[in-house]
Amino acid sequence: MEKVQIAYEFLISQISEKPKTAIILGSGLGGLIEEIKILERIAYSEIPHFPISTVEGHGGDLIFGFLNAVPVMAMSGRFHYYEGYDMSEVVFPFRVMKLLGVERLIVTNAAGGLNEDFEAGDLMLIEDMISLLPDNPLRGRNNDKLGPRFPDMSEPFDIDWMEKTKSEANRLGLELKTGTYIGLQGPKLETKAEIRYCRIIGGDAVGMSTVPEVIAANHMGMKVLGISVITNESIPKVAKEFTHAEVVAVANQAGKKLVELVKAIV
Ligand code: HPA
Repeated sequence: MEKVQIAYEFLISQISEKPKTAIILGSGLGGLIEEIKILERIAYSEIPHFPISTVEGHGGDLIFGFLNAVPVMAMSGRFHYYEGYDMSEVVFPFRVMKLLGVERLIVTNAAGGLNEDFEAGDLMLIEDMISLLPDNPLRGRNNDKLGPRFPDMSEPFDIDWMEKTKSEANRLGLELKTGTYIGLQGPKLETKAEIRYCRIIGGDAVGMSTVPEVIAANHMGMKVLGISVITNESIPKVAKEFTHAEVVAVANQAGKKLVELVKAIV
């Protein structure tokens, strides 16, 4: 928490607006940045104690500015457990956000579609999630100032916010699928048997991010909204080899719909 405090003090000295809404831009979803009237853009490497992202297709900046006249902060580039960070590093930015006064978090990601009704390019509102990660950001001594020892996770995604998002999607004529996101450690992709398993336990989409930040945000009492861009179909009968470049290309394309939706939600 000392490191979080130092990062917070640095950021608060740099920014001119304190946002209440933060947006995490997943793989290939950086298009939203063009919609933000940027006040400050701060590289992770400039922020004391901030981790630095290593994945191709991710930037590594905190962006402060206005989206539709609403002050927001956006994270371009996130920290994945598979990169080798420990969980406290993965959720470090969200704890800094809490000190900055962020109350609402919009989490986006690229995910494989497990549900047979999904196609590459679809948007999925994350209604619930299953953690298959081997670790948890709340493991260890609890910091009671951040949140309770045993946080409720019965509604990790805010119900009212989801309803509003569905009606905004409807108004914009955007199809929005809904489902459960399964977070895996990665970085390997799933075997066909693992895909079957993820479907049997109730998953509609699978990815390697999002779960730690949603846990940390719930712990700190933030409202969370999650949207996945389905970049490939992870269905045993059609599952085929795909590359990270393909994932980013689909995310870039479908990301345009997501940008429209996120703008409307904000
Ligand atoms: N599996 C895991 N993570 C992913 C996938 C997938 O099929 N697609 C995009 N991120």
